[in-house]
Amino acid sequence: MTKLESSPKNLLAIETSCDETAAAVLRDGRQLMSNVIASQVPIHRKYGGIVPELASRHHLDAIAWVVEKALIDADMAIPDIDAIAVTQGPGLIGSLIVGFSFAKAMAMARKIPLTGVNHLHAHLSSIFLQECIPSFPYIGLVVSGGHTNLYIVKDFLSTELLGQTRDDAAGEAFDKVAKILGLEYPGGPIISRLSEGGDPMAFSYPRARLPETPLDFSFSGLKTSVLTSVKKMSRQGPLPVRDICASFQEAVVDILVEKTISAAKRYAISEIVVSGGVAANSRLRTKMAEEAGNLGYSIYFPCPELCTDNAAMVSVVGYHQIRAGIVAKEDADVYSKG
Ligand code: KG4
Ligand code: ZN
Repeated sequence: MTKLESSPKNLLAIETSCDETAAAVLRDGRQLMSNVIASQVPIHRKYGGIVPELASRHHLDAIAWVVEKALIDADMAIPDIDAIAVTQGPGLIGSLIVGFSFAKAMAMARKIPLTGVNHLHAHLSSIFLQECIPSFPYIGLVVSGGHTNLYIVKDFLSTELLGQTRDDAAGEAFDKVAKILGLEYPGGPIISRLSEGGDPMAFSYPRARLPETPLDFSFSGLKTSVLTSVKKMSRQGPLPVRDICASFQEAVVDILVEKTISAAKRYAISEIVVSGGVAANSRLRTKMAEEAGNLGYSIYFPCPELCTDNAAMVSVVGYHQIRAGIVAKEDADVYSKG
């Protein structure tokens, strides 16, 4: 596909990897001109989780108006855009295809470059839209509904995966524990809210340390332990929901903080970035900042709107890929894992 001779002036980014249809416009690689997010949470809530077929159908309904709104909010029209970035993977195939096909068709029709962005690299780079930015290399933790991945981020285009979850992602654990407690999807925000009035020491839920691969994560044992304790307690009377939420959240936070700090120590890197939906969690933000601060490390969290899925983060990586001449081939396709 077309390449640019210079850096993109106005880049349009599109994200449809999961249940948010999102578009954003980035000017000169730094100035976010618009950031539109159409969330499908109310649609999936009644099923207690994301239904892939429904997600792709709703992306189809939303994609055109979301892109149009991103252009209007940026006070621009299609001819003002000189490059497009789109999430290529990982994610739900049916959802990814909607955004990717839309972006590809638009780039071909306008004869402008298209670049495919890795969703996890986008999460790692959303911090560059904030005032306070890290320097490379930094330790990057992506904690979302689908991933718990720990990286060394060397620059905008190169990362090294240090560890990942062996089973459930941290956000998935929040969502599953919420379901066990009869709470709504997504579980993270509700558990976080209920935890505020609970005792984090009430129950000692397990923390999986995995000594053989110490930078990997595992949350399925924790979820099972909550399920077992809930079954037992529900026979005895009303559930201490706030205490369960606080104790569960503390176990997740402990492990995320412990492993991230341990990666920083092991690789002697003093800059840490935490992103993804679970990075909106206030207990995680507080504890990570405390532990990092005690060791003289700098910690960076994007604002909550840039932690959950959005297209602004896709625009950051997309801008640097286009500058480096990384453009999608005409037969490029989406990928679900990676
Ligand atoms: O990054 P994201 O928007 O989508 C994925 O790529 O998965 O993350 C969504 C996940 C959900 O599992 C949700 O429960 C979790 O992030 N989440 C939270 C909080 N806000 C969202 N988890 C804990 N505390 C929160 N405040
Ligand atoms: Zn995500």
